[in-house]
Order: sequence, then structure tokens, then C-alpha cells
Amino acid sequence: MKVDLNQLNDSHFGISTLDPLRFAFSKKSSPHAGGMSMPVAADQQPKIFENVTSNSVSKSNKRCLYIHIPFCRVRCTFCNFFQNAASRKLVDDYFHALLQEIEIKSQLAWTQSGLFHAVYIGGGTPTDLSPDQVEKLGKAIRTSFPLSTDCEITLEGRTNRFTDEMFDKALEGGFNRFSFGIQSFDTKVRRSAKRLDDREVVLERVAALSARDEAPIIIDLLYGLPYQTLDVFEQDLHDFLDTGAHGVDLYQLVVGGSAPMLNMVEKGRIPAPATTPDKASMYERGVAFMNKHHIKQLSVKHWARDNRERSQYNSLAKTYAEVLPIGCGAGGNIGGYGLMHHRSLDAYMDAMNNGRSTIAMMVKQGPTESINAALKAGFDSGVVRRSALPRFKGQDTFELLKPLFVIWSENGLVELEHDYLVLTLAGSFWAVTLAQGAIEAINTLGPRKTMSTHPHGHGHSGKGHPAKMAS
Ligand SMILES: C[S@@+](CC[C@H](N)C(=O)[O-])C[C@H]1O[C@@H](n2cnc3c(N)ncnc32)[C@H](O)[C@@H]1O
Ligand code: SF4
Repeated sequence: MKVDLNQLNDSHFGISTLDPLRFAFSKKSSPHAGGMSMPVAADQQPKIFENVTSNSVSKSNKRCLYIHIPFCRVRCTFCNFFQNAASRKLVDDYFHALLQEIEIKSQLAWTQSGLFHAVYIGGGTPTDLSPDQVEKLGKAIRTSFPLSTDCEITLEGRTNRFTDEMFDKALEGGFNRFSFGIQSFDTKVRRSAKRLDDREVVLERVAALSARDEAPIIIDLLYGLPYQTLDVFEQDLHDFLDTGAHGVDLYQLVVGGSAPMLNMVEKGRIPAPATTPDKASMYERGVAFMNKHHIKQLSVKHWARDNRERSQYNSLAKTYAEVLPIGCGAGGNIGGYGLMHHRSLDAYMDAMNNGRSTIAMMVKQGPTESINAALKAGFDSGVVRRSALPRFKGQDTFELLKPLFVIWSENGLVELEHDYLVLTLAGSFWAVTLAQGAIEAINTLGPRKTMSTHPHGHGHSGKGHPAKMAS
């Protein structure tokens, strides 16, 4: 048995070109790869959730907690993840409901029977909570959930209004990792994207927080924004280095349907974002920069300056770990089911106020879910290891995928070693496309498509990155 190449095409293989980095595929369509899953009818969801969460888990299972804060004070023009404009009243009411949900979810037998190894507070902009709320949230997490002694507890957000008082309260609350969306330091790029604060202000803030050296400070940079030329991006990389931040994510800009940027470009108010080949050149520049400065690569898009940065949540949530979702718009997976909470704030608040389930959507994960997760984790790390892939019906999955691997190798996307598939620079740029190709190749081994791919939600994913619901 081998994967059936006849059911696949160039969108899986890539094309044969002298320049695979820029032209192997036409474009990256989605930030995440996804597998097949079966929707669960709404009336069955509460019972299934009750069943899976009344079971105990083994202490050795790795688990994560994802808590979502669905507010931002200003919407960035490129963002696909914006949900609600923050107002004090809305945020305060939500925070109250969130603490209630934390209490309810913490009492489940499933929750208390094992340990959580990573917690991620994502958004939206969690740093738009008040300093007192941040401290309270950290303390609620630490007192309500069984955390491993080295549990990574990340607060995501922006440097705007992230004062020393906020940092102190967050540390007091128990947060031990901070991830700030910077996107670009360049003032012109920032203003056109409606980012708050100019270059000097952001540089100063990241440098000051990093210099305190009390917790890893990680920054997100985007590449491909309007006005962000290759030279501007190179300056962004130098700025990262100068701030002393402990880690950096380089994310390719992928603008989705509702992001305001598309309309602004259409009306001629700003230049178009970079094309895919131009973004590939920027990625190339980024990787060369990191190599030149001996910054350690943790994944195809994440680098750490020192060992303090472990990026636990990202690697765990992408693999076999279960993720308990909490909050409006949060996504996770427990006991073979993918869960997605109400994305509408009204629906979430209504559910919480009336003692109803916060789940808007549930899917039963497909039988190859553990293989899909291992593939995604492997491609994200830059190396797919034979030993890390669960077997498919007793057979060696790496071997089953070999025909596809050989084509990728011919197309300059991977180097195929005996037990390892190592991504080239081009393969690293196209890592999500390759992961999706491998997952679809695995699907050719099973019954023909009777299930559907599941939708996206916020939750466990590549950082900063709103996440996948089920896998
Ligand atoms: C959900 S956002 C939250 C971060 C925080 N609110 C901020 O604005 O800095 C997490 C990260 O997703 C990334 N992101 C947002 N929009 C994106 C897009 N259209 N394409 C790729 N990455 C994007 C950004 O790098 C951002 O830092
Ligand atoms: S990038 Fe961050 S602050 Fe900007 S709209 Fe998206 S989630 Fe909100």
C-alpha cells in the first residue's frame, strides 16, 4: 500500500521549477493545514462534552489551556482575527463571565486529573485588559488548574499601554512569557496598517521590557505589508536584534476576506501587499539574517535568541496535546473531539448568563487525526521524522508517503534521508502547503471523502495565530 498519486495534483506536488522558493506553488491559501472531521449535531454536543470531561486522564498526558480575549481597541487593517471593539463595560462584563467559566471548567474531573503544561492567553488583545484583571486572571489560572512545575503561561498582546505596572501585575499573577505583536517597527508601515504608536515608542518599550530579563519577551513580525519593502523588512530584523527581545516569529501576511486592507487597496488608498514571490524573497532574507546572527531556529517561522524561550505552547498544541478552550471564540480539542466556542460575544454571554454550553461547534476528529497532527508538527519544525509518525493501519506512514516525498525532493522542496524528510529553504516557506498535501495524501489511503474539513477558530495553533479548531 502507498498513497495514490492519481488522486493528487500539482497543488500537492508543486511544480518543477528552477526557483521552487518563489514558484513551486501559486500561493498559500490558509495559515493552517487541516484534516478531515465529522460534525456533531448540536443537540448531542453537551452530552458528549460531559462524557469526555468526566473521564480522568493519565498524569503523563501533555495538555494545554487556551483562553481567548476577543477585544481590540483598534482594528488593524490586515487582521483576520478581529472580533469586537473594546469598551470598558464590554470588557468588564466579559471578564466576569470568563472567571465564571474558568471556575466551571476547572471543576471537571478531566481538568483536575492531570497536569497542564502550557497556557496561552490569546486574542484579540489580552493586554487590553486592565492591570488588575491581568493579575486576577493569572492568579485564577494558577489556583484553579493543576499546572506542571515548568508550565509556560503566555500573555499575548501589544506593547501599547503595556506599562511597567501592567508588567509587574502580570508577573505577580504568574505569567512567565510575553508575546507582543509588533508586525513592523517602521512608522509608515505601522500607520498605514493602523497600528498604535510609532517606531521609537515601540522600540523603546520592547527594549525596556526585554532588559528587565524577568520573562521571555517574544515579538511577532509580519512580512508583506504595504510599504514594507525588502529593505524595510531588513531594518525590522535589525530592530528586533537591537531591542534584545528573546524570540521572534516571522509570519507571512495572508489577508483574508473581511480584513479592511483589501478595500483600502481597491480604492487606491494604499499600495497592494507583497505578492507571494516577493514574500518568499523576504522569508529568504529573514532566514539568512537569523543564520548570520546565530539565532536558533525553533520552527520554520520561530527563532529564539537564548534557551529561555521554549515555545512550549506552540509545539504542544500542534502535536498530540489536548487543548481545553475557554472564552468567546476559543477553540480546542479533548478526547477525540474538536471544540469551537461561540464567536459572537452576544451568543457567548447569553450562554454563560443562562447556564448553557459555550460550544458553538463540535466535530469528531477523523481516524487519522494523530497522524495529521504529527505531520503538521513535523513540517512546522522543518523535519518530518519517521519515528514521530504514528503508524497507519499497522504500516509505516513515512514509507506510505514516500512517493509524494520523492516528487517533493525532485521539486527542490525537501531532502529525503532514510528516516527524515528535511525541508529545504523553499520547503520551509511552503511548510503549511506541504503539511496539507501530506494530510490529503493520507486521505487517499482511506475511504473516499465522506467527511468534511473543519472550520478555523481561535485556539491552539501557530502562535499568534488563531488556530484550528480540531487539530
Ligand atoms: C491574533 S494576533 C494578536 C496579537 C495582538 N493583538 C497584536 O495586534 O499585536 C496574533 C498575530 O497574528 C498575526 N496576524 C494577524 N493578522 C495576520 C494576517 N493577515 N496574516 C498573517 N498573520 C497575521 C500577527 O503577527 C499577530 O501578531
Ligand atoms: S493584529 Fe491584534 S490588535 Fe490588530 S486587529 Fe488583529 S488581534 Fe486586534
